Amino acid sequence: MNEEKRGDVLTEKALNAYSQIVDPRLRELTAGLIRHLHAFVKETKLTDHEFEIAWTLMAEMAKFTGDERNEYLLLCDVLAVSELIDAVNHQRPPSAVEYALVGPFYRANAPQRKRGESIVSTDTEGERVRITGRVYDLTTNVPIGGAVLDVWQAATNGFYENQDPKQPDYNLRGRFQTENDGTFELVALLPTPYPVPVDGPVGELLRLAKRQPNRPAHIHFIVSAPNYETLITQVFRGGDPIIDEDPVFSADRNLIGEFHKDNGEFSLQYDFQLKRGVSTLPKAPIP
Ligand code: BEZ
Ligand code: FE
Repeated sequence: MNEEKRGDVLTEKALNAYSQIVDPRLRELTAGLIRHLHAFVKETKLTDHEFEIAWTLMAEMAKFTGDERNEYLLLCDVLAVSELIDAVNHQRPPSAVEYALVGPFYRANAPQRKRGESIVSTDTEGERVRITGRVYDLTTNVPIGGAVLDVWQAATNGFYENQDPKQPDYNLRGRFQTENDGTFELVALLPTPYPVPVDGPVGELLRLAKRQPNRPAHIHFIVSAPNYETLITQVFRGGDPIIDEDPVFSADRNLIGEFHKDNGEFSLQYDFQLKRGVSTLPKAPIP
């Protein structure tokens, strides 16, 4: 049997071997994975040595994965797979704020804070920004009262609170509710760029590709309300020079907030639109 024929027979055998999975979606995903992995090996003619490198790399990535961090998720982020999943699942009109990946530093159960409160501990260095806006129905423009904004961001030293023992627990994180008229108000840190973790295999890949590792300055938001599809997004700063070089492909012209400085104080006005649907919350990569 020639090499191509033998390859095709193996692909068929593998597909058959998993055809009895009862759950139809799991059966479909497993078959898709087999087809694409086999096509990859055939197309690239992957060598024995390269296969060894691949599984060694997986083992190395496992060493950088645990409660604090997930190197596999980070790999999906820098290969634009995470953003692709958002693009496939969450189509929104250009007039609405888009989805952006949740990232590896989301933590559930952030403190519930009152309107106008700050998520920044007093000893955190950096400028503050007052953020005001409105959450409303994407179709009817009706304000959504009682919507929850879950907000989180990195400190100016580039670390999220869970990466940095010097920051108080849940620093730069908070949950806020909208009023009946859909409005909200909160104080955050003026965001600054910071690098994705580069001390593991993903960092090595970025260096090999000569990609810069800094994420453009941003603040993360999860906006949710009963009977509305949850919006997971990030707000970037207009004028950020690395806006087009986001290592995880999230920064988008549609997600830019205009941060203004008046009388020495920064402010941002930014609205979120929600579409009717099922309200869900993402699994937090950090327990
Ligand atoms: C973040 O913005 O928190 C982030 C997203 C993807 C990879 C690393 C960090
Ligand atoms: Fe971030």
